[in-house]
Amino acid sequence: MPSSAASGKVPGATLPQATFCFRCIGCGSLVQSASQDFRCPQCANLLEITDPGWKSSSLDAGTLKSLWRDRRLSSAPLDLSGVWRFRELLPATASEQQMVTLREGNTPLYDLPQASRNTGVARLYAKHQGMNPTGSFKDTGMTVAATFARQAGYRWVACASTGNTSASMAAYAARGGMRSLVLVPDGKISWSKLSQALDYGALTCQLRTDFDGCLRLLQEVVRRAPVYQLNSINPFRLEGQKTLAFELLEQFDWQPPDHIIVPGGNLGNSSAIGKGLLEMRDLGLIPRLPKLSVIQAEGANALVRTLREGGGKRLVSVQAETRATAIRIGNPASWEKAVKVLQATGGACEQVSEFEIAEAKAEIGAEGIGCEPASAVTLAGLKKLLHQGFVKPEETVVLILTGNLLKDPDFTMDFHRGSLFPEPAQESESTKLKPFRHPPVVLDATLDAVIAALDEAEKADRTHSNA
Ligand code: F0G
Repeated sequence: MPSSAASGKVPGATLPQATFCFRCIGCGSLVQSASQDFRCPQCANLLEITDPGWKSSSLDAGTLKSLWRDRRLSSAPLDLSGVWRFRELLPATASEQQMVTLREGNTPLYDLPQASRNTGVARLYAKHQGMNPTGSFKDTGMTVAATFARQAGYRWVACASTGNTSASMAAYAARGGMRSLVLVPDGKISWSKLSQALDYGALTCQLRTDFDGCLRLLQEVVRRAPVYQLNSINPFRLEGQKTLAFELLEQFDWQPPDHIIVPGGNLGNSSAIGKGLLEMRDLGLIPRLPKLSVIQAEGANALVRTLREGGGKRLVSVQAETRATAIRIGNPASWEKAVKVLQATGGACEQVSEFEIAEAKAEIGAEGIGCEPASAVTLAGLKKLLHQGFVKPEETVVLILTGNLLKDPDFTMDFHRGSLFPEPAQESESTKLKPFRHPPVVLDATLDAVIAALDEAEKADRTHSNA
């Protein structure tokens, strides 16, 4: 690793990093410090991070764009992070030495030629956050939150999780020399995610409850023990996650796509991306806002119901159930932030069935990209939004793929073996999924057996393309 002195850092290219305070998303009060629940002392609504100095500062859009572009050629550790590369719009740390980074961000933007043909959307892209160091978008937030936890001197950090947050938190805690406490619902998270937390040294508690129960208990733990909460109600997480929006727009040469579609669980990520978009608009980095839409699983559709039944004014909680375990959440903590973002950007909120999720996941896999089930709700949701006329085929659409295919091998194996759904699928559904199912075949270890398998596969492909 080069030292920062000899690191090829962009010469003279450091603008002051943002100083910050907390602002209540409800009453707008500004406060200098936050308690462990990150809620407003006046009205108990959630806090976000803000920089009151921006409007009067010298943050000029052109200067920022060229500074961030130049940093892509730098080999300084901070510039190699796709999060800290945008540090002018992140809360300032006391020193660079405090920063905990695993070179997160800098994730690819792929085109999706097959999905483009199937949906008729010619300019359809996937931003793959599953290409982060621990395989999910959580890393972009964790680098900032872990940095501030370390700076504040915490020995322990903690989270409730459906798996990805815990994997990410455990990695960044280990990197930053902290211990981590993980609360996960017993039997409801994938082994791959759980095994990451174990390897990174977390104290991992599988609790006999769901995610919402884990999160409730965590609130009590942080009141009793000196541990720092790293769930997405921690606004430092959202600061890191908002950089996805900066990176994406840079990949589009600052020409906003028409739509960004994101999965919704606890609703931290949609809130963060929306915050990033609004900041870019306010700073003149982009001329207009893309519409940010949130897609949920039908069985975990608290935001959909909150908007339809509660008018976006009161949370309608649900008892969550879905095989997309990452978003198996019934009582999303950041629902008010997400409602504000949907309203500000003019986005939509939709739900998709278990079948639609499985089909979309297989379609993304067939592009050679792959993602975990929760990420596939984006493509399934796009089809619905097209059908409703909310998205038009001539518009530019970006799907945010939040997690890597390897995160949930059980789902993928069950899909290919035909055992994903407890009920036998309707015939029309089975026919739709058939071309995507590729169960492994067990054969004698002979040349003839392998050649016969090849012939059979070739025959099946011909039947499918003639169908
Ligand atoms: N996609 C994946 C792969 C996730 O892991 C999550 C959330 C989401 C989407 C939803 O994001 O909660 O910000 O709306 N996973 C959390 C966890 C809850 O504990 O790993 P959100």
